[in-house]
Amino acid sequence: MDAKRNSATIAVVGSGYVGLVASACFAEIGHRVVCVDNDEAKVRMLQEGGVPIHEEHLPELLARYRGKTLEFTTDLRAATQSAQAVFIAVGTPQSETGSADLSYVDAVASEIARSIDSYKVIVEKSTVPVYTNEWIRRVVERNGVPKDLFDVTSNPEFLREGTAVVDFLHADRIVLGAPSDRSAEILRNIYEPLTSGSYYNVPGSVPGPRTALDPPPVLQTSTKAAEIIKHASNAFLAAKISFINVVANICEAAGADVEEVARGIGMDSRIGPKFLRAGVGYGGSCFPKDVAAFRHVAEQVGVDFAMLHEVEKINEEQKQRFFQKIRSALWTFRGKKIGVLGLAFKGGTDDIRESPAVDIVKKLLTEGSNVYAYDPAAAKRCQEIIPESARMHYVDDPYVAAQDADALLILNDWQEFAELDLAKLHYTLRYPIVIDGRNLYDAATMSKAGFTYLSMGRPGLAQPLDPVGAFFLPRRRENGKG
Ligand code: UGA
Repeated sequence: MDAKRNSATIAVVGSGYVGLVASACFAEIGHRVVCVDNDEAKVRMLQEGGVPIHEEHLPELLARYRGKTLEFTTDLRAATQSAQAVFIAVGTPQSETGSADLSYVDAVASEIARSIDSYKVIVEKSTVPVYTNEWIRRVVERNGVPKDLFDVTSNPEFLREGTAVVDFLHADRIVLGAPSDRSAEILRNIYEPLTSGSYYNVPGSVPGPRTALDPPPVLQTSTKAAEIIKHASNAFLAAKISFINVVANICEAAGADVEEVARGIGMDSRIGPKFLRAGVGYGGSCFPKDVAAFRHVAEQVGVDFAMLHEVEKINEEQKQRFFQKIRSALWTFRGKKIGVLGLAFKGGTDDIRESPAVDIVKKLLTEGSNVYAYDPAAAKRCQEIIPESARMHYVDDPYVAAQDADALLILNDWQEFAELDLAKLHYTLRYPIVIDGRNLYDAATMSKAGFTYLSMGRPGLAQPLDPVGAFFLPRRRENGKG
């Protein structure tokens, strides 16, 4: 794009979700980017044109800039020396205590420090607890770097897996926690193509909600505030999900529809309609880890954030409730054939970390069921933790998963799961039972199509079960199947 006057040289350390997407997007807005990882095989794969994650727009951006303004390397020293700004985007996994394990950040900070030969802005991009910024500063100083040769800033990332590129380029806000005008100026310059709106006028720019007339706002804060903004945002969103899940349970007991209730709550502009979808609970590499880490931060500063305990507890219970729902439809599990749609922690990604779907599949297998699972992207990753076996089958079509199954479970929200041919599905299943953990279907439509349809926080069953459960439902077809 035509942003040469603002072009900066940026090093991004870490080629995981955040690092790789940030690298590709910084190149897309006109910067020179060196993406560093210490995993030689991964770097080679990226240099040779591989794309390690399933993410919309990412393959095109990598293909466009790789070998031109986007390089991949294991050489952190050279990358640091060539860059004005060094973004740290390495993992901050959960430690045994629930706190964030910052050993990768620590190691990278030391290595950056040993490479600094001119003024650098070091940018925390990983999700880190408040005070990390100060720790990084101390580590760099301890390595003998004079105070005036660097600043440590915080620029949290709010991208979601599956829509990461659009979230980055069409951000709701850009938070810059900067301790000095000099560092703030460099960060503002890096994001200028987005914040000025010029990017959105470039032919071929990635489409999304932002336009030249409505570019993302910048919020400049202290570094500590920026760190807390990230943790508090994720904790709040997780709380919103747990809240609606409890409301869903009330709806179910009271005979109301949580979808109607969520619409009614969400129309209040102070609350907003997003993240009010009831379901089997939140998962992924962020919410579970970040809620625990933020709770730990609160403990460390002497604040009782018991509400976050409750958010986590509700999320755990939600999976158990879903399992109870399956039990209420099938009575027993041993030997039953269960079709499963969805393994990733949500639709649009191949990520299975902390996926409620994986927990549910594991429990089904423990209870003796035969599982036939389909996910458009996550099967390969899932096979690494639940190998294919006599009772665990990975299939590549939703109707194959449903073939002769005693019930079909919907565990994440890929668009194609919401667009099934209901007549075909009805014919394919052994019993027309669909248990939808994501409320992808309208209960009345499912009832009309002849299904026994159980979903989250919605009243009644589409086709009444026999008092002792669907086990005794008459066979639907007379061809001797099942
Ligand atoms: C989340 C945040 O949304 C991002 O802003 C943040 O940058 C990211 O974590 C991170 O810290 O890196 P992500 O984990 O990719 O992004 O996924 P979400 O789309 O937020 O979904 C998280 C989980 O909540 C999923 O399991 C999803 O199915 C569930 N969810 C989401 C619901 O159950 N109901 C909803 O209404 C929304």
